[in-house]
Amino acid sequence: MRKSLFDPIEIGDLKLSNRIVMAPLTRNRASANGDCPNELMALYYAQRASAGLIISEGAQISPQGKGYAWTPGIYSAQQIDGWRKVTDAVHAQQGRIFIQLWHVGRISHPSLQPNGQLPVAPSAIAAKAHIFDGKGFVPTPKPHALESNEIDAIIEDYRLAATHAKSAGFDGVELHGANGYLIDQFLHDQSNQRSDRYGGSLENRTRFLSEVLTALTKVWPSKRIGVRLSPFSSFNSTADTNPQETFAYVISKINEFNLGYLHLVEGETGGSRELPAGGNIAKLRSHFDGAYIANNGYNYELAQSQIDRGAADLIAFGKDFISNPDLVERLRRGAPLNIPNQNTFYGGGAEGYTDYPLLA
Ligand code: PHB
Repeated sequence: MRKSLFDPIEIGDLKLSNRIVMAPLTRNRASANGDCPNELMALYYAQRASAGLIISEGAQISPQGKGYAWTPGIYSAQQIDGWRKVTDAVHAQQGRIFIQLWHVGRISHPSLQPNGQLPVAPSAIAAKAHIFDGKGFVPTPKPHALESNEIDAIIEDYRLAATHAKSAGFDGVELHGANGYLIDQFLHDQSNQRSDRYGGSLENRTRFLSEVLTALTKVWPSKRIGVRLSPFSSFNSTADTNPQETFAYVISKINEFNLGYLHLVEGETGGSRELPAGGNIAKLRSHFDGAYIANNGYNYELAQSQIDRGAADLIAFGKDFISNPDLVERLRRGAPLNIPNQNTFYGGGAEGYTDYPLLA
C-alpha cells in the first residue's frame, strides 16, 4: 500500500505518529550561565511536537565539545534539569524527541574552551572555518592532535552524555557524525592524517565512530540510537579523496550495530542537493538495514515522492520547522509556509524563535 508522509511508522518499539522529522538546528538560546536549556527552549520544542520525531539541536557532550556561544550542554546536573523541561513539554504534546550528541573537535576556539586550551582534533590541521564566540566570528585555529588516552576520555564523555540523556527523559540519541565536527574529522582523510589505529585505512578512520557507538549501545537499546552523516558536504572545510567509497564503508560498519536509523544530509549542508561526480545516496543507503531519514532542501512534493519510491522512510525538515511550528499541519493542508528570518537563527530570545504564527 502507498505510504504517506502522514502515516505512522515504527522504529524498533518506538511509535512515531508521522514520517516528518524536525532536523537538528543550532539556535544558540541556552542560558549563558552554564549552557543550560531553559523554559524558552522548552516552549520552542513543544510548539513543534507534532513532528513524528524531533531531533534536538546539537548538545555538547563536554565543555571541550563546544564550538559556538550559547549552545546547550548535556554534561552537568543543571543541564540535565533543563533538558527535562524540554522533554516533559514535548511529551505533554505527545511528541517524541531524541537528543543530538555533539563534539565539535577542531571547529572551536580557545575563547570557548576550558582554560583557554586549543580545540582538539585527530590531526593538527586547521579547518578553514569560523565560529561565533559570543562577540563575533573568529577563525578556527590549528587544533591539538589527540593522544590515544585523550580519545579514550572522549569516548567516555559520549557514554556519560548518553546516560544523562536517559536521565533527562529523551526517547533516544542521535550521534552527530556530520558537518565537519569531531567524528567527521576522523572519517575524512583531509582532516585525519594519523598513523596509529585511528588513521590511515578506512577501517582505522572509522574506529573512533565505532568505539563511540559501542559506548552508546552500553546505555541505550540499539534501536534508540541514530547516526547523522553528511558524506558529500564541504561544510566546515571537510574533504575526502573518495567520499562514496569512504561512506559506503562507514555505513556498512554502522549497520553492524543494528541501529534505529541512518540520517543523511543529501548534498551540501543547508545548501544544494547536487552531489559530486560519483556520489550516489541510494547506493550508500543500501548498506543500511534500518530506517533511513533523508534531509536537505525538501519540500512536500519531493518528500512524498521519495517516500513513494521507497528512497526514504522519513524526511527531516530544517529551516521550514524554524518558521512553521505547525509544519506538519501546513504540509497536510497544502497551506503556505512562513518564511524563516535568517537574522534570528543564531542567538537572541523569543523573536524569530517562538513567535512564528500558526495557521489561522
Ligand atoms: C550551524 O551552526 O550552522 C551548524 C551547526 C551544526 C551543524 C550544522 C550547522 O551540524
